[in-house]
Amino acid sequence: MSHGSSPKPLTTRAAGPLTGTIRVPGDKSISHRALMFGALAVGRTTVTGLLESEDVLATAAAMRAVGAKIERQDDGLYVVDGIGLGSLLEPESVIDFGNAGTGVRLTMGIFGTHDIAATFVGDGSLSKRPMGRVLDPLREMGTNVIARSGDRLPASIRGAKQPLPMTYRVPMASAQVKSAVLLAGLNCPGETTVIEPIATRDHTEKMLAGFGAEISVTLNDAGERVIKLKGQPELKPQDLEVPGDPSSAGFPIVAALIVPGSDVTIENILLNEHRTGLITTLIEMGGDIEIVNRRHSGGEEIGDIKVKASQLKGITVPAKRAPSMIDEYPVLAVAAAFASGETHMPGLDELRVKESDRLAAVARGLEANGIPCVEGEDFLTVTGGANNIGGGTVVTHLDHRIAMSFLVLGMASHKPVTADDGAVIATSFPTFTSLFSELGAKVQETPSEAA
Ligand code: S3P
Repeated sequence: MSHGSSPKPLTTRAAGPLTGTIRVPGDKSISHRALMFGALAVGRTTVTGLLESEDVLATAAAMRAVGAKIERQDDGLYVVDGIGLGSLLEPESVIDFGNAGTGVRLTMGIFGTHDIAATFVGDGSLSKRPMGRVLDPLREMGTNVIARSGDRLPASIRGAKQPLPMTYRVPMASAQVKSAVLLAGLNCPGETTVIEPIATRDHTEKMLAGFGAEISVTLNDAGERVIKLKGQPELKPQDLEVPGDPSSAGFPIVAALIVPGSDVTIENILLNEHRTGLITTLIEMGGDIEIVNRRHSGGEEIGDIKVKASQLKGITVPAKRAPSMIDEYPVLAVAAAFASGETHMPGLDELRVKESDRLAAVARGLEANGIPCVEGEDFLTVTGGANNIGGGTVVTHLDHRIAMSFLVLGMASHKPVTADDGAVIATSFPTFTSLFSELGAKVQETPSEAA
């Protein structure tokens, strides 16, 4: 596997209440974009709170490969000396994105309208994921592509010499596809338009505006977001602060709700409305969650999240909420295992093309631990309150969120739960084990005969 380590099974077991105040690492989506946009600006961008995970470090390496200088200072500040839009150098070797879907798809967008050639590879998970959703619009803008059958990695592109701006209607709810087209549009003359029928996270739009691009977002008569970007701006360097990742916060939030007696505060979390679906859902399920100290920083709302153990009840999660919590369904399924009655989660077709087929991986993980569930083509229904749950080993399929979600399950189940590979957690949340240990959880390496 190219995310850098051999599998490391981890096991969790119930160990009393979780208590304390923590900060989770910086937001992954914003961290990728901070490095990319800093690389495309002319001058020096600084980034505090960057997520230092394998996925984001792969993006740093990719930006260095096209000429940006990116350095980490001793105090953790990242300094990015941009090479400037239109001036990217051709990478001298293959770009390995490991497990990082956001990294590779957004980078393909950037490179696709620069006159350079590049080859992208990834780990076993990334190599299974569909790249056509990004490569198809790029082909229309003039990018030449040679990819493995089904538009999978490895893939090589030769960026367009004379790129063409386009109007693109995003066919699935995907911020990565939207962003790839917008980033390709950056180096096109004229205006690129992206129509987004279903709103997704808007970090690309907000951050590009912050870097000085001319970008507008309006709603058309059908209520769809219409994003217009004027090509070939001079991007101005920024001083950025990355807030805590709400997707990573989802793990301690759910753990605190389901481990009896817990009382946990998670500080400095991004509260962008396109990212907070899990919190809304858990509150609807009866979770004692309070957001305090709301403030604004860098154009985003942030706040501290206080969570106390709660008796949850099953609900139907509205399908239209899915884009605002798309990465959180695995851990929501774990919360649902402790709720009274059924939790029904429709509208999950995109879960099948994440780091793993997450619908199937979650369903198998629940079954392995004695939790009744029904896996439909695009839905999951979990029945909570089963007795004697846990005791299973979950196959993580190189998917960090499957590993972390089921480790959270083990913190509250009757019997321990093992994730067959905890090494993959380093792609997004390298401090997962130490932060949970601080809160009082028992996360341990699994003796090899037990894995
Ligand atoms: C992301 C978009 C989402 C999300 C991923 C991060 C982004 O992917 O699952 O973790 O930063 O744009 P999709 O665009 O495939 O929904």
